[in-house]
Amino acid sequence: MPRVLVVGGTGLAGRAVTEEAVERGHEVVVAARRVPDDDAEAYVPGAAYVTTDLVTGAGLEEAVDGVDVLIDTSNGLGKQAANVFATGTQNLVHTAARFGVHRAVLLSIVGIEGSSYGYYRAKAAQERAYLDSALDTRIVRATQFHDFVTAIFDRGRPVGALLSPTGTRFQPIAVADVARVLVDAAEGAGERDGVLHIGGPRVESARALAEQWKRASGSRRYILPIRLGGPLGSTWRAGRNLAPEHAVDGAPYATWLDSRA
Ligand SMILES: NC(=O)c1ccc[n+]([C@@H]2O[C@H](COP(=O)([O-])OP(=O)(O)OC[C@H]3O[C@@H](n4cnc5c(N)ncnc54)[C@H](OP(=O)(O)O)[C@@H]3O)[C@@H](O)[C@H]2O)c1
Repeated sequence: MPRVLVVGGTGLAGRAVTEEAVERGHEVVVAARRVPDDDAEAYVPGAAYVTTDLVTGAGLEEAVDGVDVLIDTSNGLGKQAANVFATGTQNLVHTAARFGVHRAVLLSIVGIEGSSYGYYRAKAAQERAYLDSALDTRIVRATQFHDFVTAIFDRGRPVGALLSPTGTRFQPIAVADVARVLVDAAEGAGERDGVLHIGGPRVESARALAEQWKRASGSRRYILPIRLGGPLGSTWRAGRNLAPEHAVDGAPYATWLDSRA
């Protein structure tokens, strides 16, 4: 079985990928700046952890040593995003190539191409860094995760509401479903330099999803429609965040909400 490195394997998507890869019998190494204790939620029994900072390069050589394939699920919040996706990715792909890593799988987002939203531009630069590298790369662009859509609604908490972006539809996907596709790609599915799109099983309006959240949680908060400004709002209203022709046969939002309850 190949040795798999999950970069950012303590995060939301990365933890699911780590779990999937361990379950399939791979030898799994996780790289992140903070290594979880073995009773922490982020910890997956059976995986090894290496303290690594993509941006400074600390711990990178140890992380890639002996690795056959890497799956990049790293992330950067706010101003960190450009650092992680630009500098961090360059450090990672060059070190990985130098240490003989054969294949790389990158988790990206549906609809980033052509968007002037800063985070999406940083993701597009990250994709280019992989495609320009010596690594046999597969890019998997996913639609919004169930958890991410929930976090948008929850932004209304300070005013006792659920925020629902107007004119916006989502096709939310479970991170477990994303993880399966990423590990398939790590095992060789897809083509070299190929870009694969995956989306959740259903396209639904933000309002319909917010109503499902409200029902499932028993919340009394009202749904507050907001028009999201800027390039992210226009990208979403244009439906560029959707991939209905690439819907996975996975857990719809309502089922995922029930499973959490
Ligand atoms: N949210 C969505 O709906 C969605 C949809 C499609 C694709 N994506 C993409 O999926 C990826 C993962 O998102 P997520 O929400 O799962 O991320 P997340 O929960 O924020 O996890 C990020 C991971 O990256 C690690 N990390 C951050 N900075 C690092 C650094 N400098 N060096 C090494 N590791 C670092 C974090 O650990 P430490 O902080 O301990 O370093 C953590 O393990 C992102 O690239 C995102 O663009 C997200």
